[in-house]
Amino acid sequence: MLLIGSLQLYPCRWVGDDYDRRSMTNPAPRKFVLGVTGASGAAYALRTLELLLEAGAEVHLVVSDYGRRLLADEAGVKQLTVTALLPHVFGASDEVPCGLRRRTQVPDVDAWDTRLVVHPNKDVGAVIASGSFLHHGMVVIPCSSTSLGAIATGAGSNLLTRAAAVTLKERRPLVLCHRETPLNLIDIENMRTLALAGAINCPTNPGLYLGPKSVEDLVDFMAGKVLDLLGVEHGLKTRWEG
Ligand SMILES: Cc1cc2nc3c(=O)[nH]c(=O)nc-3n(C[C@H](O)[C@H](O)[C@H](O)COP(=O)(O)O)c2cc1C
Repeated sequence: MLLIGSLQLYPCRWVGDDYDRRSMTNPAPRKFVLGVTGASGAAYALRTLELLLEAGAEVHLVVSDYGRRLLADEAGVKQLTVTALLPHVFGASDEVPCGLRRRTQVPDVDAWDTRLVVHPNKDVGAVIASGSFLHHGMVVIPCSSTSLGAIATGAGSNLLTRAAAVTLKERRPLVLCHRETPLNLIDIENMRTLALAGAINCPTNPGLYLGPKSVEDLVDFMAGKVLDLLGVEHGLKTRWEG
């Protein structure tokens, strides 16, 4: 711990790690794993994906079967390609799903496409299933109770839960954005177990203290919080400044 005046700085787990020191001298993009499960809140996932790609990150995306259903039901996303996943960025103006802002400037689709790697959830032999694959953190957003429970028990029967288990064992940031209400004791115990194992429980629970005017503002609050937890800079006004 570093003490500067009354400010206490605790070393972040990912700052100073060997792989991170390399990345500071290496132009290679930082890598993140993004898991999407079958809980309500497709817009949270798509906005997080957009912001990670905008920040120059390489994103390894894994979506559960029910996650795919949620993306289709809530956002009309039926394919896991960069243009289909980001209709508010690359689609027509009448294709913007609820909770997402239409981008005024369209980014270079090829540049974003090359930094999006989509893995089938059945492929537990994919690179993100191994600790040998160096990445800077994983977020599951939204995270269902089913996947929360599977991760809490260490079940690695699909790629998403296996990648989460690996992230924990490698002591990298694992952010779990659970969505369900109310919570039963099983969810609460699973969150407790995961907190003890080093995960960050970050429920999709946007604050209202910044005076949100729209669903987009609420979605931005959560996406900004996730990026803060992963140590990724963003320009969203999502922090309380007194
Ligand atoms: C439209 C829809 C909305 C759902 N919303 C939630 C939710 O908010 N939270 C949750 O835990 N499960 C929710 N579920 C149930 C999960 O999808 C289900 O438990 C599934 O087994 C999750 O599997 P997965 O974690 O592998 O995606 C929803 C299902 C559907 C079809």
